[in-house]
Amino acid sequence: MRIEPAVTVEGHLAVPGDKSISHRSLLIGAICEGETRVSGFGRSGDTESTLAAVRALGAEGDEGEELVVHGVGLRGLKSAELDCGNAGTLVRLISGLLAFQDGAFTLTGDESLSARPMERIAEPLRRMGAQIETTDGHLPMSIAGGPLAAIDYQLPVASAQVKSAVLLAGLGAEGRTTVVEPEPTRDHTELMLQAAGARVSIRPSSVSVDPATSLRLGAVEVPGDFSSAAPFVVAATLLPESRLTIHDVSLNPRRTGLLDVLERMGGRVGILARRRFGAEPAGDIEIRHAELTATTVNPKEVPLLVDELPLFGLLAACARGQSRVRGAAELRHKETDRIEAVVDALRAIGVRARAYEDGFTVQGVPTRPRGGRVDARGDHRIAMLGAVAGVTSREGVRVVGPECAAISYPDFYDVLASVVETGEIGTD
Ligand code: S3P
Repeated sequence: MRIEPAVTVEGHLAVPGDKSISHRSLLIGAICEGETRVSGFGRSGDTESTLAAVRALGAEGDEGEELVVHGVGLRGLKSAELDCGNAGTLVRLISGLLAFQDGAFTLTGDESLSARPMERIAEPLRRMGAQIETTDGHLPMSIAGGPLAAIDYQLPVASAQVKSAVLLAGLGAEGRTTVVEPEPTRDHTELMLQAAGARVSIRPSSVSVDPATSLRLGAVEVPGDFSSAAPFVVAATLLPESRLTIHDVSLNPRRTGLLDVLERMGGRVGILARRRFGAEPAGDIEIRHAELTATTVNPKEVPLLVDELPLFGLLAACARGQSRVRGAAELRHKETDRIEAVVDALRAIGVRARAYEDGFTVQGVPTRPRGGRVDARGDHRIAMLGAVAGVTSREGVRVVGPECAAISYPDFYDVLASVVETGEIGTD
């Protein structure tokens, strides 16, 4: 797909419902009593995988104006083989729930998911007594459900997926389960479990959960996904005279690290109409064009913008000076090795960038990058990086394998086309 340079970005838009919260509404809804009505559910390749999985486990999901999940109760999931597709959040979180069910489960995934590490969840779940086997640390993975005992677990890496797997297993374990985080990560699981009536104690660097007998969510209102808003935040920042408002976006502070980083680079972002979607903070974001200066993203900040670091690379490319990301080795375990993918994409559009084991460095020049050819490598975040690079470039970008954007954002290219001016976005 060829993405032509645009002159400016202007207008209003809304983005799909938050993917992390949508996954959790299905997974936690499935083990609740009665119906969970989910409004604003973010439909995407990944959340379709989760919907199919909860259905295979015996929890019905009706799709209408709202999504309705018919829960089967805490221990009511039935034996199944689950194809988790591309969805890391699905496979990691569901494993915690399956570990204490009365059933046997096999989990598989696509080529990318099958290359990602699974021992990070298998190891703590085994410590709780789970019978779980990986294939050399990867999928396929088999789980035979049974009784679990609580653990105190120190996360070796800052990962909300691993934290969530252990907390969800803790619902069915004997005793109080505690997870200690090296750095704070997204807390959607904790917030939703509290809303469902679980006893969850949230402290700055640890979370505990007590065993549950029955949970009830009732309704979940999903705000827009900040990670899907981020490509537009970056496009509007980089293109002259831009002014863009993105409505009803999640503003959970454990997700919006990109805004803090952008602010110290000189970005002009305003938050309007702050409100809450259940326990989740949300609001409208207004972005204007700004001249940027380089910055360093520190290890502590990384979990707060982990999925936006590819887009940070593009901001850095157009900022005056050298920018750095450090303490982000986790990027090597995402849908692709995102350190290599980002550096290759930036170089392919004429930017000087260098990869390190735990991050990357970008030599910024406050002008449009040249443009070129960006291979998405089957990774939705890299496809969207390529498209935003295209609209902000001098010569345009050809995105190879653009369709994977649908893993998180099926209408991404149409929405992008609707807010850019005098740019042509199309397939050829
Ligand atoms: C997610 C957590 C993050 C993130 C992923 C979604 C979640 O992964 O990269 O896209 O919903 O919990 P890690 O927790 O493994 O860093």
